[in-house]
Amino acid sequence: MKLDFIYNRHSVRKFKDQEIPKEDIKEILKAATYAPSGKNIQNWHFVVIQSKEKINEIVKIIENKHDYLINNCDDEELNANFSKFLRYFTLFKNAPVLVMVFAGPYGASGLEVLQKANISDQEINSILNKAPGIQNIGAAVQNIQLAATAMGYGACWMTGPNFAAKEIEDYINIDKNDYTLACLVPIGVPQGDLKSPKRKPLNEVVTFID
Ligand SMILES: Cc1cc2nc3c(=O)[nH]c(=O)nc-3n(C[C@H](O)[C@H](O)[C@H](O)COP(=O)(O)O)c2cc1C
Repeated sequence: MKLDFIYNRHSVRKFKDQEIPKEDIKEILKAATYAPSGKNIQNWHFVVIQSKEKINEIVKIIENKHDYLINNCDDEELNANFSKFLRYFTLFKNAPVLVMVFAGPYGASGLEVLQKANISDQEINSILNKAPGIQNIGAAVQNIQLAATAMGYGACWMTGPNFAAKEIEDYINIDKNDYTLACLVPIGVPQGDLKSPKRKPLNEVVTFID
């Protein structure tokens, strides 16, 4: 089927203990850079980690920040709910590759004109919430997932660990100016069966206007 490359993609959360050749990682990230971006700004940067020791250190950083947060929050119900998802934030333990996706700044078009034209803060905030800079990053990450799938690998797009983004950035310590960590994407050969949760029916998410 023509669109199999879409329907065969699944979030992969378990990986075989199998390395990925550097050439394949480069091919996947090249595909990422072919994503569209507003004004072709390409405000992304990819940090690739292959050292298991470093990958597992990042897992530890996330676990430690989780522990710190629940020890400093006195709402047990919130803490329990947060802790329930910890395994979804640390699933890349022992993954062969971890791509850290950094996002650089990219503002909304016409912002200064909107401000000078006395457009309300509410309307301006609504425009800013569309976050075109982050939309660029989303397009690149989807390309990573599709490219990885087409090449026999699997990936998982992860923003869950972002509560520890500051500590992870400090640990990696790359000179990235005003780029910040947007998400983590482990990549590897999938282990076990792959399936995805159900989608909403099309008529629930599509409106045709005649
Ligand atoms: C922006 C974004 C953030 C996500 N963060 C996580 C995450 O932190 N941990 C995780 O296990 N899955 C994460 N996912 C994967 C989603 O859970 C998954 O895409 C969704 O359940 C649909 O399943 P599928 O990707 O297999 O189709 C994320 C997906 C997106 C798009």
